[in-house]
Order: sequence, then C-alpha cells, then structure tokens
Amino acid sequence: MDKPVQVNSDIALLPSHLPLPIPGGGYLGINAYVLKSQQPMLVDTGMGIEPDEYMSALESVIDPSEIQWIWITHDDADHIGNLEAVMARAPKAKIITNIIGVARMETAWHIKLDMVHLVNPGETLDVGDRVLHAVRPPLFDSPATMGVYDPKSGAYFSSDCFGAFIPEPVPDARDVDNDVLLEGFGMFNKGNHPWVHLADEKKLASRLNIIKEMNPQTILSGHLAPASGMLDQFLETMSHLPSADPFVGPNQLEIEQIMAQVNAGQTPTAEA
Ligand SMILES: [Fe+2]
Ligand SMILES: [Fe+2]
Repeated sequence: MDKPVQVNSDIALLPSHLPLPIPGGGYLGINAYVLKSQQPMLVDTGMGIEPDEYMSALESVIDPSEIQWIWITHDDADHIGNLEAVMARAPKAKIITNIIGVARMETAWHIKLDMVHLVNPGETLDVGDRVLHAVRPPLFDSPATMGVYDPKSGAYFSSDCFGAFIPEPVPDARDVDNDVLLEGFGMFNKGNHPWVHLADEKKLASRLNIIKEMNPQTILSGHLAPASGMLDQFLETMSHLPSADPFVGPNQLEIEQIMAQVNAGQTPTAEA
C-alpha cells in the first residue's frame, strides 16, 4: 500500500500498486476510495495479498465501524480482496452490488443476501447528503461492473475503466507525462477489455457520450491516480480503441529474451 491521499474534502484514496510482470513494463495502480458522505461509503476493498496494510490505510482515514456502504465496482480479486475483513469491522455496512455480483462473489466467499443492497446500473442510492448514481463504465471486464457517480463532488468512481499503465506510482494522474499517460491508458484499456476490438465504434461512442454528458470533474479509476480535467482526452483516446492494434503480451520465448537482457544488466527492448 502507498500513503492514503486526500482527493478532496469528501474523498480519500487508498492507493496501492503492482509492478507489471514484464520487466520495465511499469506499474498499475490498485485503488480503493472512501467517500465521506453523511452515510460513509467505501468503494472497493483492495488486494487480499496485503490485508494488514489495507486495513491500516483504511483505519487512517475512517473508523471502519462508521462505514454504512461498501460499493463493489466488480468482483475481481483486486476489488474484493479484503471485503470479508472489512465486513467483520463494519457491522452497519451493506454491500452494494447487483445480483450478478452476488452470484460471482459466491465463488470466493459465502455472501448472504442480508449483507447486500442490490443496485442496478441506472439506479440511484441516497447516502444522506447526496444521491449517488450507478453508472456502468463504457469498458468493463466483469458483467457485474458498476461505477458510481457523485454529483456533489463531481467524482466518478469508474471501476477498471480509465485505468492506465504508468512508469511509476504517482498520487495524481497529472504527474505523468501526458503522451506517456495516454499510451499507457490505451494499452491498459485494450488489454483489460479486449472485446473493445469487437465493438461497433458508433455504439461505443454513444456510451462514451453518456460519460461526456455526465461531465465528471474527476475520474477515480481503480487503476489510475485521480484524474481531474482529463475527461475529454480520455474519451477521445477511448473512441479510437476499437480499430487500434490489439494488446499482445510477450510469449514464452520473448519473455525469456527479456529476462536474459535484464539478467545481463541491459534495459529490455521491445524487440526482445
Ligand atoms: Fe477487473
Ligand atoms: Fe481491477
């Protein structure tokens, strides 16, 4: 885990990161967030490989017993890693997901319906001082995926969508060189959502337009530091992904060549 970051007066980021399994490939942020609404909400629960660090980071920004909602953007291991541990410390909390999320989380953990408050994309949730909107992001890697838009703070918690591979962890997306950021953005969003190459560009554009009209001031992805004022360039980059070259990772021979370069003290090259 990295040091928690106060995104604005209402939102804290609980950041972590993973080095990519390709030497020299950079990093992927793994983020959860705390929304200090009147009824406090946690958005995602991090990776199960660092349970103590996650709980310490959470406790540094809120007393877990105050949490009333745990919004699970989807059921992947990097979003539900500490869900059981958080639930044990948050007796008032209900898990926000949809019925597909319940079914898929059942494979990891015996989730009971009385732990859950079901929300579908397009529906809302009143958290006391604001009404949150469940908005499915344009790209997603689980059928349970549900982002959440907070009109009061202007933040959109976008699940995996709008993530990016970056050269090193940063507290703010604006800290990354813009060309480097957009390259890593394209790479991640193709690699994590390979079906984008099957998508009709006009249909994808209509989904992107929903986000454009919503006009979030800050994108809070599970896989990129907070990104303010970057919506237009993100949507523009995403609109070209259907016809872009697909992400292809190294095969065994290529990874062995890369590792040989690393072991020889050389900087790995793309041609390896
Ligand atoms: Fe995912
Ligand atoms: Fe993820």
